[in-house]
Amino acid sequence: MDSGKRKRVFSGIQPSGGLSLANYAGALRNFKALQYECDCVFCVVDLHAITVRQEPDVLQRNTYEALAIMLACGLDPERNIMFMQSHVPAHAEMAWILNCYTYCGELGRMTQFKEKSDRHSENVNVGLFDYPVLMAGDILLYKTDIVPVGADQKQHLELSRDLAIRFNNIYGDTLIVPEPYIPEVGARIMSLQEPEKKMSKSDENENAYILLVDPPDVIRRKIKRAVTDSDNRVVYLDEKPGVQNLMSIYSISTGMKIPDIEKEFETKGYGIFKDRVAEAVVELLGPIQDEFAHLVADRKYLESVMKAGAEKAECIAQKTLAKVYEKIGLLPRPK
Ligand code: TRP
Repeated sequence: MDSGKRKRVFSGIQPSGGLSLANYAGALRNFKALQYECDCVFCVVDLHAITVRQEPDVLQRNTYEALAIMLACGLDPERNIMFMQSHVPAHAEMAWILNCYTYCGELGRMTQFKEKSDRHSENVNVGLFDYPVLMAGDILLYKTDIVPVGADQKQHLELSRDLAIRFNNIYGDTLIVPEPYIPEVGARIMSLQEPEKKMSKSDENENAYILLVDPPDVIRRKIKRAVTDSDNRVVYLDEKPGVQNLMSIYSISTGMKIPDIEKEFETKGYGIFKDRVAEAVVELLGPIQDEFAHLVADRKYLESVMKAGAEKAECIAQKTLAKVYEKIGLLPRPK
């Protein structure tokens, strides 16, 4: 039976190797909470990953690891649909359909496309350009109500909405128009080295980010070296972006609210503050790392999860795709 009024949530995770604390804060942490209230679909978006060149064996490893890290962060494969994008052909098919309703100008305006084509100027391929359409397909196939995303994906989500509305205007109500869900705290965990910039594991300075798999001593070292200011007061102010960022990280790791954090460190300086932030992160990530190590070693289990996930996903995706084909006027394949 279907589950009544529960909202459908869809999110995609790139198998790009080594997720960071920012991915945890902006995505995985929220997924964990959402799984109890919503019907969630979590997809490892391997077809998105190949828009930049990948070493085949590295991509394979990263794909297993992406699933393992989701599971290690507490996402339950019984509760959620968890699968690999390339295992459900409807994603590529839907992307093609939506391509025919997307304007080149819309895609040319995408900030991420512009950034990535600068970064990978030797390989500005059509897939990179088309990336947001594949993403729209992911979302629209599952009649998604809510898409939890980092602020950097907002523009892509806007396109998904525009495409759904455009399709519905032409063919009548067919696709659900998805809403973004952007959490306030932790939506933007910033670089530890340049706190005006997002934390990103593609940063060339590895002290700028914390990976979910960083060992405790590495976490301690990176936080000790985090850029702050000379003021030595732990208060949450826009002119203190480094301190603000560490406070957000502490908040995410401990569950404490910002005003309570200010109180805790009222009489303490950055030295003690940084030590506590580091310990909080180590404590948060410890159990996740143990579980991850255990899961990546168990490919049989990971494969059983992705197999069951793909079957469930395919069922839903095929229904939407069939409806879309029919509306457009593509002939059903004779039985
Ligand atoms: N583009 C997203 C990112 O880089 C990943 C993604 C692909 C996604 N398909 C999606 C996110 C659908 C949400 C919904 O983070």
